[in-house]
Amino acid sequence: MTDFGFSTSHASGAARLGAFRTPHGVVQTPAFMPVGTHASVRGLAMHEIRDAGAQMVLANAYHLYLRPGDEMVRALGGVHAFARWDGPMLTDSGGYQVFSLSRYRTVTEDGVEFRSKLDGSRHRYTPEKVMQIERNIGADVIMQLDELIEGGSSFDASRSAMERSLRWLERCRVEFERLSREGRAPVASMSVPDGAPPLATHDVERDRLAPPQALFPIVQGGTYAELRRASIEGILSAGDWVGVAVGGLSVGEAKEAMYDTFDVCSPLLPADKPRYLMGVGFPDDLLEAVSRGMDLFDCVAPTRMGRHGTVFTRDGKMQIQKSSNRTDRRPLTDACPCPACTQYDRAYLRHLMVTEEPLGPRLLALHNLTFLMELMRETRVALRDGVFAGWSGEWLARYRRKEK
Ligand code: GUN
Ligand code: ZN
Repeated sequence: MTDFGFSTSHASGAARLGAFRTPHGVVQTPAFMPVGTHASVRGLAMHEIRDAGAQMVLANAYHLYLRPGDEMVRALGGVHAFARWDGPMLTDSGGYQVFSLSRYRTVTEDGVEFRSKLDGSRHRYTPEKVMQIERNIGADVIMQLDELIEGGSSFDASRSAMERSLRWLERCRVEFERLSREGRAPVASMSVPDGAPPLATHDVERDRLAPPQALFPIVQGGTYAELRRASIEGILSAGDWVGVAVGGLSVGEAKEAMYDTFDVCSPLLPADKPRYLMGVGFPDDLLEAVSRGMDLFDCVAPTRMGRHGTVFTRDGKMQIQKSSNRTDRRPLTDACPCPACTQYDRAYLRHLMVTEEPLGPRLLALHNLTFLMELMRETRVALRDGVFAGWSGEWLARYRRKEK
């Protein structure tokens, strides 16, 4: 049996109920993946993430490369052992992070040069280097290095970034296959502080070959249908991928343009591969994306917004700090199984935020995550029961009644 697989069991229009098998377990799709940038979902412990219903967790290769270093993660047993998450994991390449550093980076055909936000040191990020970094970190799914540009960019700018992403994909693929075939070079000897235990004491041969990974390509092309089609064509002719990601969305373009892009991409993507929509994580966008054939999602927004007091409810977003919550003894939301909703009331949660108690942001981030996990669980039940179209229509109508 190969290490990865994907099968679908039910469909409703373009929406699918599926199971994505990885070396660290199966992900029931559609699924939302919490983002743990530094191999930690900010403020939350892995057991809390698991209890919230998370199946697969993201980390970021760029951040882990800077601290503690990808070789250090590997020497400490790989990212699963390091972060104590034994389920499926994925690392984003850092293409997005480097893109957001616009003042501190230069992009050339070879790769990206940037200055560390930590100490100003210079770094060179190439497709080959990114494969070595993601291999050392050791997540189940690793992402190619891609070139991202601002939403609303011109056709020509979108085309050249898309084409460069294809050329970088090819370089990623060659290096990924070389690393899989030849194994990894031993970790360079790392200095260990006086009195600290030695590193890399585990089985050398296992370390050389482990772990099995899947490389996902990323569809780019902005909101131009023609470019998205060309991107997918280039990706599919370049290899037989375990799954395919759709990137470059939710970067400032109109929502309708984003939804249209899902409609352009889905029919062209292989039906028997998971489709990972990057960086999209609002409840309504998730349902719109599922109904247009997307399977996996991630976004920092739910946890970030929660930390700032914005919470998802079935009737749209709510700001916990609003003064009417001051005396409100009702639960945050009715049906959510998270600790914020089952153990506290709105007045107290508001008080935690107003007094800047660290518990407040933690509870609200956990609520938003749990809310999305529940939404995806209900989505899977609706798909299984053959009622997805009607159910999601009602869900969206209620959610949007008060939004805007
Ligand atoms: N995160 C959200 N969108 C993207 C994207 O287009 N590329 C990468 N690498 N990460 C993302
Ligand atoms: Zn909740």
